[in-house]
Amino acid sequence: MPKLSLRKTTNFDKKYFAKWWRDEDLIKLTSGVLEPISEKEIEKYLSAMVKSRTDYHFMIVFDKKVIGHIALAKRRSGWYETQIVIGEKAYWGKGHGAKAVQSLLKKAKRLSISKIYLEVRPDNLRAIRAYEKCGFKKIKTMYYPKNKYLPKTLRMELKSELLTPSPKVLE
Ligand SMILES: CC(C)(COP(=O)(O)OP(=O)(O)OC[C@H]1O[C@@H](n2cnc3c(N)ncnc32)[C@H](O)[C@@H]1OP(=O)(O)O)[C@@H](O)C(=O)NCCC(=O)NCCS
Repeated sequence: MPKLSLRKTTNFDKKYFAKWWRDEDLIKLTSGVLEPISEKEIEKYLSAMVKSRTDYHFMIVFDKKVIGHIALAKRRSGWYETQIVIGEKAYWGKGHGAKAVQSLLKKAKRLSISKIYLEVRPDNLRAIRAYEKCGFKKIKTMYYPKNKYLPKTLRMELKSELLTPSPKVLE
């Protein structure tokens, strides 16, 4: 059975982001910003991700193929925000998202990071379900009236006592 793993993101991963950040289906589920992104911008954002001293960026690898990206980004008051994209759509709905989140949570535990949250579009039911499988709980609706691309999100939080993966995810 092929295994899922996480490896550090590098500047050589540009081709994946160039594909995913221009994919309309993915954009609609994430940032919502459909304006075209240039090669230069992709290089700039990727390089900032790779260089960051506070955030952790990983590529999700399944069966030797890079299928997505997952991050843990430092926020205020000891909180970290996680973001995930399985960019290769053929790999959606097969449990890889939940497994990738669980792998990230193991790394977070080793780094003594316990306050982890995420924000998701309230209608992204697949993502919400995947996060719930990993122990995230719905906390509150967040409103960003100035952000025309993403005016409303659902905040979900993981509590440190929930860092142990559920048996379902480990199957
Ligand atoms: C969100 C994402 C990371 C989830 O990963 P995944 O591998 O597809 O998800 P999983 O297979 O681990 O879990 C999905 C769960 O949602 C369920 N699901 C799928 N579609 C659903 C729907 N429309 N309504 C309710 N549940 C749904 C699945 O049945 C599964 O639950 P189950 O294991 O109890 O059956 C992945 O789909 C993705 O990257 N999507 C595009 C980008 C995105 O939405 N990113 C998240 C932004 S916050």
